Amino acid sequence: MCGIFGCASKQGNAAKVIHAALKRLEYRGYDSVGEATLSEGKLFIKKDSGKIDEVHEKLNLDDLPGNLGIGHTRWATHGAPLQVNAHPHIDCEEQIAVVHNGIIENYALVKKELEDKGHVFRSKTDTEVIVHLIEELVKQQNLTLVEAVAEALKALEGSYAIAVISTLEPDKIICARNESPLVVGVGENAVYCASDIPAFLPLTNKAVVIEDGELVIITNDGYEIQKIADLRLVKREPKIIDWTPEMAEKRGYPHFMLKEIHEQPLALRNTLRLQEHYLELMTTFLDRAKEVFLVACGTSYHACLAASYMFSKLAYRATYPIIASEFAEQHGKSVNIESTILAVSQSGETADTLAAVEAARHRAATILGLTNVIGSTLTRVSRVYICQQSGPEIGVAATKTFTAQLCVLAQLALRLAKKRGKVSQDEIDFLEEKLEQIPNIVENVIVKQEDKIKQLARKYKDKREFFFLGRGISTATALEGRLKLMEIAYVPAIAYPAGESKHGPISLVEPGFPVVFVCPPDETRKAVIGNIMEMKARGASIIAIIEEGDEEIKNLAEDFIEVDKGIPDILSPIPYVIPLQLFAYYMAVERSHDPDKPRNLAKSVTVK
Ligand code: F6R
Repeated sequence: MCGIFGCASKQGNAAKVIHAALKRLEYRGYDSVGEATLSEGKLFIKKDSGKIDEVHEKLNLDDLPGNLGIGHTRWATHGAPLQVNAHPHIDCEEQIAVVHNGIIENYALVKKELEDKGHVFRSKTDTEVIVHLIEELVKQQNLTLVEAVAEALKALEGSYAIAVISTLEPDKIICARNESPLVVGVGENAVYCASDIPAFLPLTNKAVVIEDGELVIITNDGYEIQKIADLRLVKREPKIIDWTPEMAEKRGYPHFMLKEIHEQPLALRNTLRLQEHYLELMTTFLDRAKEVFLVACGTSYHACLAASYMFSKLAYRATYPIIASEFAEQHGKSVNIESTILAVSQSGETADTLAAVEAARHRAATILGLTNVIGSTLTRVSRVYICQQSGPEIGVAATKTFTAQLCVLAQLALRLAKKRGKVSQDEIDFLEEKLEQIPNIVENVIVKQEDKIKQLARKYKDKREFFFLGRGISTATALEGRLKLMEIAYVPAIAYPAGESKHGPISLVEPGFPVVFVCPPDETRKAVIGNIMEMKARGASIIAIIEEGDEEIKNLAEDFIEVDKGIPDILSPIPYVIPLQLFAYYMAVERSHDPDKPRNLAKSVTVK
């Protein structure tokens, strides 16, 4: 996720306004920051890695001339958080500057073509191709800046919100979007563009939301929206935003957790755009390893548990999911040069996970990392790492980063299956197609089920304990649902593989005891129905997460939540966990707890 901002003002210093706006966008990323302004036919740039305050102290971000400019706060995806990779990026002639939020998927190909034409790249980012491509089009085809931006975007694949300025047409900012957010703010004496409304809310409450496939020409006295495809004019009036600054930070949601639950379709789309190269490299290591441990804590451990089913079922690769704090004790003596450790950590800084990695490194094992934070310790100690590209997660409870981890792990399992020739091409094609649909399926679950889940939370808010049960890969989903409910709503809960429940835990059940069953229609369904019957016989209230139209389980359950049809079992934890996240959230709200700040917990646990 990154934050972009642009300001075209009738008077005054744009740099200062941009700096203040970037501070308000800092929640979108904070590993590098930069600004570019135009004054007297020249481009001025300041940028560096580090938090905005640190860079400002070093460079004075307010001290750039001119009343038109753009800025960026970065969350690294392609290219380490270094000065050279910070935005804005400029063309060879230093006449055009761009800031970008998103991922250009075909950048390697475009970069190669541009290099062959003599363009010199300075950074390792995907973004830099945008500016060189615009330069190429302006020069070689004699296009106006707007035409060149539109043509460049037609040649690029991926997601973007961009803002472009140029000495060639110094009175305007051109911005555009595809799948990354972009809004225009219309003030008395200035017009702004930004990734998010809070960036300009103290300056104006008149906002125009830009849609996919549109570009906007911004000048200091107005804006014009056009279609990227054919530059056709689009008429759209600003809307008045009546959010308080606090609401604005959360984009109108009452809590970051709810905002992040709703961000999952977008986060998943980004995770489906990972660089092939790293996925392939990691798959090769997973294929060659004699033994593979999947090491993590908390929610990330649940992703590992689900992944162990994916690897085994698809690629016939046995892997050992293990809670990081137990790793050294359990495997510290046996792990060796032939072992591979895939460490999964959203923050990349969890002390227990890093300690397990250290123990394995000490015995010459290969370390692979999956994290959300480039530049974190995990990325530094991993032979290969993948950044899941979910953007910062502010709510303490992991939500969007969990489903993104699952999505990356599913991609790895699929590649490994392909490499090992374990599934037919038809099946691979089918699974890949389903994976592409997962963001939309998640969106459907949220849209269709949220109100019902809110009502369920109201109904069950005073229950003193819960069971969460699932079989097969749904065991991981059940464990994650339990963790969410416990950590933010403070309701004691037990999660088990459903088959195990009769070996002890069932003794807790008495009439009215709520039992949540995760029951996608996979091979375990029949057995799960048996477990539901066992619980029902003892008077339990069954809440079932089922496939849309599963009448048999609907008839057994007291309450049910439906998920779209046709999801392959190895992908089921992604949509099936969504109702459980929402249930935990609304239970916390019903019980008057702040879901964003659960007591005794920290977002990144850096102690062992
Ligand atoms: C639960 C949660 C924690 C983390 C755990 C590991 O909602 O967020 O259980 O999953 O502390 O954190 P990372 O993934 O940063 O290593």
